[in-house]
Amino acid sequence: MMVKNYVIMPSVLSADFLNLGDAIAECVAAGTDWFHLDIMDGHFVPNIALGSGFVKACRRATDLPLDVHLMIENPERYLEAFSAAGASAISVHYEVCPQVRNTLSMIRDLGLNAGIAISPGTAVDEIQDILDLVDLVLVMTVQPGFAGQSFIESSVEKVRRTRSLIDAAGLNTHIQVDGGINSKTAPACADAGADYFVAASAIFQHSKGITAGVRELQSSLGVESR
Ligand code: DX5
Ligand code: ZN
Repeated sequence: MMVKNYVIMPSVLSADFLNLGDAIAECVAAGTDWFHLDIMDGHFVPNIALGSGFVKACRRATDLPLDVHLMIENPERYLEAFSAAGASAISVHYEVCPQVRNTLSMIRDLGLNAGIAISPGTAVDEIQDILDLVDLVLVMTVQPGFAGQSFIESSVEKVRRTRSLIDAAGLNTHIQVDGGINSKTAPACADAGADYFVAASAIFQHSKGITAGVRELQSSLGVESR
């Protein structure tokens, strides 16, 4: 059987911030490979969350790569700060990125992986001509702004379309799904071509704890646990 390289990225937004170091360590021990950090400005999204200081704190807690999801207007103003704080990848939203080519090359010039995020209302065809400038396409599978929402089912077809555009262009860009990802929704996204799976509630709000949450996602995707 071909082993797919699926990556599970806990979104620490739903973690217990008072015990963040322990929460991160538990994910690492359970075999997650990246962390996903959600930054919200209260303008692009109707919620405020986290800043570069938080990224810095996570950087001290783990050597694993940190994936920073900027849900903010004027993202180009903050790229250096998040890079200095320890980001490994930065995704910006297409909807609030008028100079998108420039912004993506700024991210790569900082030595980071670049991602373009699209909200549910944005068609992937709109970003077709910039696919070669990114390492990952973040397909939002809920409206950005809050953890704990239900997966939007039509996202599966959007992931499939994204995969076909990437394959047609001969690229090996990753497809990340974010929002409402759990052991029921992840396999359908994987089947449609996603390989990066972000989960907050399914991991940090799992009734049996963080390790059980990670394990449930791993087994739904056929990923070996540690
Ligand atoms: C939502 C964020 C997500 C969120 C996911 O705007 O981008 O990363 O934390 O939370 P769950 O997994 O609970 O839907
Ligand atoms: Zn996110």
